[in-house]
Formats: sequence, structure tokens, C-alpha cells
Amino acid sequence: MTQDDQKRAAAEAALAHVEGGMVLGVGSGSTCAYFIAGLGRLSARVDGAVASSEATAAMLQAAGIALLSLSDVGRLPLYVDGADEANPQLQLIKGGGGALTREKILAAASDLFICIVDASKRVDQLGRFPLPVEVLPMAVSLVADQLSKLGGRAILRSGFTTDNGNLIIDVEGLNLADPVALESEINQLAGVVTCGLFARRPADRLIVGTDESVQEYH
Ligand code: A5P
Repeated sequence: MTQDDQKRAAAEAALAHVEGGMVLGVGSGSTCAYFIAGLGRLSARVDGAVASSEATAAMLQAAGIALLSLSDVGRLPLYVDGADEANPQLQLIKGGGGALTREKILAAASDLFICIVDASKRVDQLGRFPLPVEVLPMAVSLVADQLSKLGGRAILRSGFTTDNGNLIIDVEGLNLADPVALESEINQLAGVVTCGLFARRPADRLIVGTDESVQEYH
């Protein structure tokens, strides 16, 4: 199976968790695009969705799914999203597509967070993928300096603005042995909106498309 086939297989498996009358949260990225395509086939029995990005909102609308805001629904029974890395504790690095802040909000609001990935995303320890950090524009140099003091190499994502009007710093070489502690530490830096570590609120289930099958962990 190609990587795209694995993504599609994981996304299709997640559709089994969508129940009639649900308003669910939907993440961003290429794996979620397969999920949205499948959700389109179920559009008649889904009440609507809350999108984690403008790109996802456009795809949901094209698939015939009604868009709602998080304030309309309060909590989400289900949130489905991809990831850039997932460890055995189902802690994640996210934000390769830059939608990490809205994704983290929807994950926090969800009762069941299902992460869908291809096999390349499974790692024993997080940290090979550079950690995305969303930063208010005026704080970029300050935050980059502080991330360097934490041991990382901070690289401003060039030509990119988030849906929230902010910038992304990608950080290479951080020690991610304690993802919960590092997530808190980075999130507390003045000017940081949030970082792409999803460790304090990890996924509840991880669905992995592999060459042979689809594997589910929880
Ligand atoms: C978007 O900001 C990210 O968090 C995505 O969930 C992540 O980059 C995974 O994307 P793919 O499904 O395209 O690999």
C-alpha cells in the first residue's frame, strides 16, 4: 500500500465511529481530507461539523456537511484528526499544516479524540518532526530566543500565516523525553499561542493504516 492508501484506510476505519445525529469535530491535513470525503457519503445522517481550519471548513462545505461553531455545540462527542508523529502513549506532534491551535481547542473539547495516521507517523519517542509553535507576530524574535535556550533550533516558517493571523516557528532538536512538561513550558512563554505537542490531552485512540491492515490502539 502507498502512504496515501494507508491514510485512506485509517480515515475509512474512523468513519465507523460516526453516529447518526452527531456534530463532530474535524481536523486538518491530507489524512483528514480522506475522512471528509467519506463523511460526505454519510452527510444525510450527520447533523454537522466544527472545522479546525479554513481549509477543512471549505472541504466540509463541499462535501455537504453543515458547519457549526464550537460555541454552538459546547462539547464534541467525537474529534477526528491526523498527526505528524504519534508515540505509544498516543501523545502527538501536530501542526505540520499550521492548524495546531484550533486543532488543540477541538481536541480539548472532545469526549473521544481519534487520531488517524499512516504507518510512517508512529514513533517510539516524539521529536524527529520539528515542533511547530504558533506565535504572535510581535513576539517572534523573543520566542525564538527562548526556544533556543530550551535547546532547540528555531526556524521561522517562511511565507506562512496561520488562520489566526499568527506565525509559526518550527523547532528542531528539542529533547522530548517529557512531552507533558515541555508542552507546559513552551505554552507559558509570553507570545506563544500554543505549541504542537498534544501530550497533556493525547488522543484516546490511534488508527494506523499499515501495508497489511488497519491497527487500532487505545
Ligand atoms: C495540521 O496542522 C496538522 O496538525 C495535521 O494534522 C498533520 O500535519 C497531519 O497532516 P497529514 O494528514 O497531511 O499528514
